[in-house]
Formats: sequence, C-alpha cells, structure tokens
Amino acid sequence: MSQQPQQFDVVIIGGGAAGLMCAQTAGQRGHRVRLIEHANRCGKKILMSGGGRCNFTNLGTTPKQFLSANPHFCKSALARYTPQHFVELVERHRIAYHEKELGQLFCDVSSKLIVKMLLDECANAGVRIDVGCSVQVVRQSEDGFELQTTQGSMACNKLVVASGGLSIPSMGASGFGYQLAQQFGHTVLPTRAGLVPLTLSGKHQERLQDLSGVALPISARCGKQAFSHDMLITHRGISGPAILQISSYWQPGDQLLLDLLPGRDALQTLQDLKRARPDAELRTVLGDLLPKRFAQRLCEIWLPSRPMRQYNDPQLREAADLLSNFPLIASGTEGYRTAEVTLGGVDTRELSSSSMQSNKVPGLYFIGEVVDVTGWLGGYNFQWAWASGHACGMAL
Ligand code: FDA
Repeated sequence: MSQQPQQFDVVIIGGGAAGLMCAQTAGQRGHRVRLIEHANRCGKKILMSGGGRCNFTNLGTTPKQFLSANPHFCKSALARYTPQHFVELVERHRIAYHEKELGQLFCDVSSKLIVKMLLDECANAGVRIDVGCSVQVVRQSEDGFELQTTQGSMACNKLVVASGGLSIPSMGASGFGYQLAQQFGHTVLPTRAGLVPLTLSGKHQERLQDLSGVALPISARCGKQAFSHDMLITHRGISGPAILQISSYWQPGDQLLLDLLPGRDALQTLQDLKRARPDAELRTVLGDLLPKRFAQRLCEIWLPSRPMRQYNDPQLREAADLLSNFPLIASGTEGYRTAEVTLGGVDTRELSSSSMQSNKVPGLYFIGEVVDVTGWLGGYNFQWAWASGHACGMAL
C-alpha cells in the first residue's frame, strides 16, 4: 500500500440504496464514514426505478415476500426498520408520494428526490462520499482493513460491502461484492436474474410473436407459487408484472401454467356462455373475455372454434382446463441486462441477521442486494436495502 493511508472508522463500498442508508445511520451515530462509489454518481438504480418515480417501499412488507436459502434471515432487520420508518423520513423531507396498488408507495414527482434526501442525510451526518472511485485491493490489517483505490489508499476498522447485484451492468452493477466475499472465505450461492422477462423459442415463440404488445390479466403459476397480475406478450417472449414476479421462482425446464381467466371458474363460465349464446362461436365469446387477437389465436391453434351449442360437457371441460392451466415452457430469461434484481449471493448463514456482520471476518459486513435476500416486485427490494443498511449502520 502506498504512503500513509487515510483512516476512517467505516468504509462502505457502493453508493446505492443500502450503502447510502447505512452511511447516514453510521454517520449519525458519530462514526467517521467514507462511502466509495465507482459510478459517476450515487443511486443510479434509485433514479431509474419505478419508471422514474421510485417505488420506495411497500406498506405490506413481511418476510414472506422475500426469497432466500435462509428465509428467516431477513426477519430481524425488517422488523426493526419498517416501511413506516422510511415513510417518516420521506415525509420529513416533504417528498410527496402516493400509494399505487397493493401497498406500493411511489414519489409523486421524481425518484431524484429520494436520492437527494439520502445524500442530504449523509451530508448532515458528515459522511464523505467519493464517486468515480474504484477499489483495487482490499486486505485485512491488524485493526481492520486496508483498501487501495483509484483515489489513494485508506484504512478502516469496519468495512461494509453494499455493491449490489449483477442486474443492469450499464448502471454500475458488478460482481465485486461476490469476489470480495469469496476472498474472505464466504460462500456465494449461485446467482441468477430475477424479476426479469422470460423468453420463448421455437413454436412457442412463433405462435405468440406477432401478438407482441397484447396485455391481459392472468395468474401465472410455477410449482406452488402463483401471481395474479398482467402479462404482456413481447417480441421475444412474455413480460408484465405477473411474469416478472414468477420469473424469480422459475428455473430452466420448469413449466409455467397460466390461468387465462383468473378469478373465474372457467368451466362454469363456458357453461353459462353456452346457455346464454348457443349460436355464438367460441372465439367470439372468448373475445369478450380476453383480448380479441389473443382469443382468435387460441382458437386457431389450441381450441377448435365452433358454435357453443356444439360443445358437449367433456369438450367444455377440456376447453376450460386449457384456459385455466395454459402450459408454457420458457426457453430462458432476458438476463441481467433487463433484470430488476439478482437472486442468490452472499450466503446469509455466514452473516449475523441482527448486524449483517460476517461470522468469519469480524468487522466485515454485507448489506442489500449482494446478500442472498431478494424481494418480490413492488417496493420490497428497496425496503430490504433500507432495513439491512439501517441494521448494519446501527451495529457499527
Ligand atoms: P444498488 O445496485 O442500488 O447499489 C450498489 C452500488 O454499488 C451501485 O451504485 C454500484 O455502482 C456500486 N458498485 C458496484 N460495484 C462497485 C465497486 N466495485 N466499487 C464501488 N462501487 C460499486 N426495487 C424496488 O423496491 N422498487 C422499485 O421501484 C425498483 N425498481 C427497479 C427498477 C430497475 C430498472 C432495477 C434494475 C431495479 C429496481 N429495483 C426496485 C431493485 C432495486 O433497485 C435494488 O434492489 C436496490 O437498488 C438494491 O440496493 P443495493 O444498494 O443493494 O444495490
């Protein structure tokens, strides 16, 4: 290491949601904190989130909305820093917000206000932030860690890794946190893209491709997990909230089952329609329940269309079964380029759930998305970033 390194109590690597929350919390508690961000500004993902309005939390957050090899891990941090705590912060900064649906809170104006709020809190807490700074080497020292960066060397007693996951590399995402974890003997569970559009190939793609842009409410099921929301057909496959949600539970080879008439008893619906409109063709009656082009395609390929009165009970049952369990095999995902989150990561069984500290290396902490805790779509991932960042900041 070159010359005398600058000394800090805490160095945080990564100026995203978790790093900024941790920095302000630790700074407010009197620590000398330095935060290092390798991109040219902090909070790029916050800026692009929620269509520019940042879905910054979800009022209905519970541990159930998180995926992890160790589902109990997130409980402590989530219980100690709740959506209401973050809402209080937002209100203190007079940021107007609204609830969109299902407890999702969004800024009325812009996600820039959330980044400004976090930076203001850090500034008030005396946090030093360096952007455009890359860490080259980290090594353990007698009383902490020494880091070599593109802006010189520094030493700290405690090191927090808040470098996020692999999604959207163009926004600064890197595998740095995982490499650092491995360097210090941590297990990194296999990572994969989550909350991501699914791709179709072969005949599955050919049959739907020209319907690109068609959206419909569905319930998407993979194994025991199901999500009801909209699906959007894309040029490459399927997307929309229901598909993004189920993508986190999908693995290559798994079959997806789509209920195309969610909330309805498909057989009862077809029987009622047969009684009410015996001369209407199936494609016509389905066209009143589903987007017309989609109903048309169903009847070209999967369901023979004829007047409703010509269907006997077993045939109606067969049609109903297809409508409520429409099978799809995805060929893959669109990958980290468009994924909102990265599943997997630093194994939580080697971290303290109350402080996020490593059980292997005292003074080393992992927070946010780099950890194997991934939320559903709807503000849960930011709530995890705030909660884990706060838990760590309080423990430093
Ligand atoms: P985050 O990725 O935010 O921050 C990590 C930081 O570390 C980055 O600034 C990165 O540049 C920096 N970094 C990486 N490697 C480094 C290195 N070697 N040295 C220094 N710095 C380094 N969630 C939600 O709850 N509501 C929402 O509305 C959305 N919307 C959304 C939209 C899109 C397009 C994406 C991609 C993601 C979302 N998310 C979301 C998910 C959410 O953005 C994500 O879960 C959090 O940002 C994770 O916070 P972290 O601080 O852990 O990582």
